[in-house]
Amino acid sequence: MSRAPEPAERLLFEEAATLAPRAYAPYSGFAVGAVVVGPSGRSHHGVNVENASYPAGLCAERAALAAMVAGGERSLRYVAVAAAGGQDCLPCGLCLQALAELGDPAIVARLGGEVRVVQLRDLLTAPFAGGDGALGGPVSDGEAGR
Ligand code: THU
Repeated sequence: MSRAPEPAERLLFEEAATLAPRAYAPYSGFAVGAVVVGPSGRSHHGVNVENASYPAGLCAERAALAAMVAGGERSLRYVAVAAAGGQDCLPCGLCLQALAELGDPAIVARLGGEVRVVQLRDLLTAPFAGGDGALGGPVSDGEAGR
């Protein structure tokens, strides 16, 4: 289900790791950085941003996803996620659902102490896509907003 990273994928993971200390995580103390890459090859950055009202907190992956869309891209190729301190960290279920909206990216993350690559669809085999599937599926990069 997972494989070793290519050199470029390992670099994406390192980029996510350098972001992690910028996280605002005073409640959990678990700082996370995420990098997402779309068709352009550009990196879009996110960190987790917590809140005194705990459910208002945002994960690093969805912050990076929003940055990518704001940057004009709507198709995911890679997601790299890294926790400060080198702890294992895969995207949570909520983030997998959010990411699945825009594709089936390769996810680069530390798993069992090693940097590994896994496809999103191997972690979330059946993302919700609307009651009859009509609302689902990634939107192509050139497509106008819905
Ligand atoms: N978190 C992320 O940002 N990404 C993950 O992949 C896992 C968890 C955040 C949410 C919360 O701010 C903190 O880490 C502890 O769960």
